[in-house]
Amino acid sequence: MRYDASMKKAQKPRAHRTLLGGITPRQFLREYWQKKPLLIRNAVAGFSGVLSAEELAGLACEEDTQSRLISQPKGKWRLEHGPFDEARFAKLSGKDWTLLVQGVNQHLPAAAELLQRFDFIPQARLDDLMVSYAPDGGGVGPHFDSYDVFLLQGQGKRLWRVSEQQDLTLVQGAELKILKNFHTEQEWLLEPGDMLYLPPQIAHWGIAVGDCMTYSIGFRAPSTQELASHFLTFIQDKLDLPGMYADPDLKLQRHPAKITGSMLKQVAKSIKKIKWDDADVAEFLGRYLTEPKPDVVFDQPRAMSIAKFQQQLMRDGIQLSLKSQMLFHAQQFFINGELVQMSPDNAGLMRQLADSRSLPAGSFADIFLVEKLYEWYQAGYVKFPY
Ligand code: SIN
Ligand code: CO
Repeated sequence: MRYDASMKKAQKPRAHRTLLGGITPRQFLREYWQKKPLLIRNAVAGFSGVLSAEELAGLACEEDTQSRLISQPKGKWRLEHGPFDEARFAKLSGKDWTLLVQGVNQHLPAAAELLQRFDFIPQARLDDLMVSYAPDGGGVGPHFDSYDVFLLQGQGKRLWRVSEQQDLTLVQGAELKILKNFHTEQEWLLEPGDMLYLPPQIAHWGIAVGDCMTYSIGFRAPSTQELASHFLTFIQDKLDLPGMYADPDLKLQRHPAKITGSMLKQVAKSIKKIKWDDADVAEFLGRYLTEPKPDVVFDQPRAMSIAKFQQQLMRDGIQLSLKSQMLFHAQQFFINGELVQMSPDNAGLMRQLADSRSLPAGSFADIFLVEKLYEWYQAGYVKFPY
C-alpha cells in the first residue's frame, strides 16, 4: 500500500497518549519533563522487546557497537568495555552482572521504530536506545544520570527504587558512579511494557527480578563547557583574521623581559576581532548534533548509476539509514555532521525526510535534489526501503 502521511498523522496523538499513560504530550512536557518521575503501566502493550539476550550479546561482540559489562566480583564494582569475546560471557557466573549496549537503534529497524514513538521530544535532544540484560538480582547499582531517560521494560521484570534525595555523594575510588547513601523513597516492580520516566539527577536503582531486559530511551543534554569548547573548535576552523602584530613606535624598555601594557592592548584588540553571529551558532549546532559517534561505520551501498537511482527512488521512495542523524534549521539541513542548503522548493521534502526518516515514492524531478540524495546514497546515509 502507498504511504499515506495524513493517515499516520491522524493516529499519532492516540499512540502518544497510550505511551504516556493517558496524558497528552503537552501535559507530559508541562508536568513531568525535567521535573519529576512518571510511572506508566502498560505504556507499550504487548511489548516483550525487540531482540533476545543472545542477540544483544552478539551486538556487544561487534567492533562498531559501544557496550559495557558491569559486574560485582567479590562485592566490588567492575566495569569492562566492549567489544567482547564470546568466551567472556561463558565465564560469567552468579547474578551480579549486567550487559549494556548503546545505540541498538542503529542496528535494528524495530529498535529505531521504537525510538520514533518518542518523537514528541525534539530529535535534537534524542541520544539513543540502550538495551541492558541482567540475570536475576543484576543491575548497575544505585546512581543518577545527567540526562532524561524513559526506562521501558522488555523481557522479565525489574524492581526500580527511586529517590529524589539531595545527597548525591559517590562511592570514592569505584570504577562506576555509585551513590554512597541511597535511600529508597519509592519502589515499583515493572513488567513487560511498563515504563518509568526519570528526569536528570534523580537517584535510581534497578534490580533484575528473573532474567531481565530493559530499554533506555536516553536524551542528551550537553554541558555548557562541552558546547562552548566544541563551538570554539568550530569557529577556529572558520577564522580568517587580517593583519599582524606591529610595533613601529617601539620604545626602549628598562626590563627586556616585561610584557608592556601597549603590547597587551594591541593583542586584546586583535582577539576581539573574533566575532560570530546566530548563523554561526546554528551551523555549529546542526553539525555538532548530527555528528556520528566515533564508532559509527556507514554501510556500503549497492553500486548503481544516477539514472537507475532516480528510477528506483521514484518507484520505492527512500529512507535514512539507521545510522544517520538528520536535523534542520530554516533552509539549512544537517546530515551526519554535513551541511546542505536547500532551495525553498526542496525544503519541504527534506523536512519530511528529517522528521519521518523516510520519503514516499513519487516524482523526483528536481535534479539538485536527486543528485544530493544520490550522493547520500553513495555515502550510505540513505537507503532504499526494500
Ligand atoms: C539498566 O538498564 O540496567 C540501567 C539503566 C539505568 O539505570 O540508567
Ligand atoms: Co540510570
